[in-house]
Amino acid sequence: MKIKSLKVNTKQKKYSIYFNNNLTNEINKILDKERFKFEKCLIVYDSKIKRNFVEKLLKRIKSPKKYSLRLISSETNKNFKNVNLIIKYLLKEKFSRNDCVISLGGGIVGDLSSFAASIFKRGIKFINIPTTLLAQVDASIGGKTGINDKVYGKNLIGTFYQPDLVLIDINFLKTLNYRELICGYAEIFKHSLISSKKNFLYLDKFIKKILLLKKSYLTRAVIESCKIKKEIVEKDEREKNLRQVLNLGHTFGHAYEAACNYTKNLNHGEAVILGIKTAVKFSFKKKYLNKIAYNKIMMHIKKINFKLSVNKIFKKKDINKILGFMLNDKKNVSSKINLVLLKGIGSPIINKPFHSNEIKKFFLKELINL
Ligand code: GLY
Repeated sequence: MKIKSLKVNTKQKKYSIYFNNNLTNEINKILDKERFKFEKCLIVYDSKIKRNFVEKLLKRIKSPKKYSLRLISSETNKNFKNVNLIIKYLLKEKFSRNDCVISLGGGIVGDLSSFAASIFKRGIKFINIPTTLLAQVDASIGGKTGINDKVYGKNLIGTFYQPDLVLIDINFLKTLNYRELICGYAEIFKHSLISSKKNFLYLDKFIKKILLLKKSYLTRAVIESCKIKKEIVEKDEREKNLRQVLNLGHTFGHAYEAACNYTKNLNHGEAVILGIKTAVKFSFKKKYLNKIAYNKIMMHIKKINFKLSVNKIFKKKDINKILGFMLNDKKNVSSKINLVLLKGIGSPIINKPFHSNEIKKFFLKELINL
C-alpha cells in the first residue's frame, strides 16, 4: 500500500508528515525514502507506551547506537528538570548535531523533547511520533516547543523548532479513552471552522464513524486537519498574524482550564470545546455569525456527545477570575482581550480586541445558557 504523506514548507525546514498504519514495519522504509540518517538516536517516550513497543521500534531503526528514556507525561513534568535530564543524556552519550531525538508520545513529551532538541548544540535532528489525536493533528505540526512555569503558567518558555519528520500512525488512537479522543477532535473541529466549510460538512456527516475510530473516516479527518494546520504554519511560521487564527476557542478555553486549576474535572480538549462554544455564541451575539451557521455548529457540538457546559462548571462569582486569565493570555498585547471569532463556517475574524467589560456583560447575561 502506498504510504500517504504531506510536505511542510517552512522557512526554517522543509519536512514530511507520513500517515501510516504500521509504523514499526514502515519506519525504515520511510527513513530510507527520506534519506534520513543518524549514528545515534534517543527515543524519549511516554510512560503510557508499552516498553516492548519501544524495543520493537528501536530494533527496527537501523542506526548503530540507540537509546531510550521514559518520561511520565504530566503538565507538572513539563519543566526544566526533565529538559535537563534529556540534555544530560545526550551529552553523556556524546550525541552530535547530526544525531537524532525521537519523541514517542502525546503533546507533553513532544513539546518537552522538541524543546530539548532545539537547544542541544543549537539544534539536533528531531523526529516526532505523536501517539494521541491531539498531538497528531496539532502539537506535532508547526514547530512550537515548550515547557511550563509552575508559577506563571503553561508553555511560557519555548522555541520555534520545526521537526525533521513527523510519523503519524492512526493505530495508536485505539487505546485512547473517549475524553482523550475528544481532546484531539476539538482541534479537528476547530480547523474546519476556521478554514473549510467542506471539511466541517464532512465531519458533521461522519462524526459517529470518526469517533468510533472507523479507519478510513478517521484517517481522512486526520489528514485533512493536518493539511489545514500545515497551510497556516507555512504562511505564518512564527505566529505574527495568520497563525493566531488557531486560537479560536482557546482564549476562553485556556481561561476555563486555569480557573479550574488544571484539574481533571476539565481537560484541555473539553476546555477548548467549551471555548469554541463561547466564541461561537459571542460571534452570534455580535451579529458576525448568522443564525443558520450558529445552529449548525451548536448541533455539531451536541453530536460529539459533549455534556459539559460553562454554567455547570462555573458560578457568577468565577467570572472575574476567568476574565483575569483571559487578560493575562500571552497573545494579548494590550489591556484589551483579543478574540478569534467567526463570520461563517470556514471564515474567521482574527484577533478582534474587546474590552473586558464587554465580555463580562456577555458572561453575566449568557452564563445561564452557555
Ligand atoms: N496549537 C496552535 C499552534 O500551533 O499555533
